[in-house]
Amino acid sequence: MSRYLLRGKSGQSEIIVEDFNAMLHNSVIPKDSIYITDNNLNELYSSFLQDKKVISIPYGEENKTISTVNTIYDQLIEFKADRKSFIVGFGGGMITDIAGFVASTYMRGTRFGFIPTSLLAMIDASIGGKNGVNHFNYKNMIGTITQPEFVVIDTVFLKTLPQEEFTNGLAESVKHLLISDQQRFSNFAEHINNVLKKDISFLNDFINQQVKIKIDIVNEDELETGNRKKLNFGHTFGHPIEKILGLKHGFAVSIGMIIASEISKKFGYLNESDVHLIRDTLIKAGLPVSCKMDKKKVIEIMSKDKKKNNDSIDFILLKQIGEAKIELIKIDQLAEMFLEIKLP
Ligand SMILES: NC(=O)c1ccc[n+]([C@@H]2O[C@H](COP(=O)([O-])OP(=O)(O)OC[C@H]3O[C@@H](n4cnc5c(N)ncnc54)[C@H](O)[C@@H]3O)[C@@H](O)[C@H]2O)c1
Repeated sequence: MSRYLLRGKSGQSEIIVEDFNAMLHNSVIPKDSIYITDNNLNELYSSFLQDKKVISIPYGEENKTISTVNTIYDQLIEFKADRKSFIVGFGGGMITDIAGFVASTYMRGTRFGFIPTSLLAMIDASIGGKNGVNHFNYKNMIGTITQPEFVVIDTVFLKTLPQEEFTNGLAESVKHLLISDQQRFSNFAEHINNVLKKDISFLNDFINQQVKIKIDIVNEDELETGNRKKLNFGHTFGHPIEKILGLKHGFAVSIGMIIASEISKKFGYLNESDVHLIRDTLIKAGLPVSCKMDKKKVIEIMSKDKKKNNDSIDFILLKQIGEAKIELIKIDQLAEMFLEIKLP
C-alpha cells in the first residue's frame, strides 16, 4: 500500500493506492458513510454495497447535471444526512465529479471521500478537488474545487472495467507522461502490452506513477493559475472533437494530443520522429489518432473555450517529449495552423 498527501487550500487529501483487493477492508472509510454510485456499479458490486446506505443514479455523462444533483439532495434529506454525515463517491469520473459537488454544497459542505473504479477516475478525475456538473452543452460549467478527505484506489476494480473504458483512461495516462516524464513515457511505450493485459504487478506501479504525477502538479498549483494548465494538453482541440463527434473523452483527447503535437512541431519544438513516436504509442494503446471532422466547426467551438483569454488561449505545447510549455496563442493563429495539419 502507498500513501500520498495532497495539500490543497480547500483541505488535505490522502491518496491511498491499495494492494489488490485490500480496499474492501480499508479503515479510513467511515462505517456509516452514504455511498453515491451509478446503477451499473450498484449492480456489479451489490455484495460490497449491500449493507450500506446507497444513492444510485443512472450512469452516463448525460446524467452529470444539476437535475441529477437535485435528486441526490432529495435522497440525502430522506437519509436524514446532516453536516456530520460522510459521503463516498464510488464509481468512475462522472460519479466522483457529481458526488464531490453534492458533498461540497449539501448543507454548505459535508465531509467526503472517493473510491474511484475506472482507470480515468483513479489516475485523474478523483485527484485534485475539481468537481462539478455539465450545464446543457457546457462541460463542467458548474462546480467547486474542494478536496476529498481521501481517495482509496484499488486496481481490483479494473477487472470488471470494459476494455473500451480502460482504453479511454489510457489517453490521460499518456498525457501525464508526455507533459512530465520522457523516461517513463519511453518505458510505457515499450511495455504497453503489460498495461493492456492488465498485468496486476505492472498496473500497480503504473497507477502509483500516474497518481504521483497528478498530485505533484496539483500540489504546486491547485487553482490552475500556472502549471496545472499543462494537464489541458490535447484538450483545446479534444473538447470540440468530443462535442461534435460524440467520442469518448479520452478518444477525443488522443486526437487532440496529435493536433497539439503537430502544432508543437510547427513551433519548432518537436521533430517528425517525436510526433511519430507519440502517434505510434497512442495507436498501440488502442486510441484513435485521426478522424473525419468538420474543421471549421471544431474552430468555432474551440474559439468559445471557457479557458480563453479575449482573442487568445493558453495552449499547451510540448517543448520535447516529457516537457510541456504554456503558450498564449491567438485563436486565429491556432486555427490557421490547425487547418494546415493533415491528419492521416
Ligand atoms: N475532476 C477532474 O479533474 C476530472 C478529470 C478528468 C475527467 N473528469 C470527468 O470524468 C468523467 C469521465 O470519467 P469516466 O471515464 O470514469 O466515466 P464514467 O464515470 O461515466 O464511467 C464510464 C462507464 O464505466 C462504468 N464503470 C466505471 N467503473 C467500472 C468498473 N470498475 N467496472 C465496470 N464498469 C465500470 C460506469 O458505470 C460507466 O458506465 C467525465 O465526466 C469527465 O468530465 C473529471
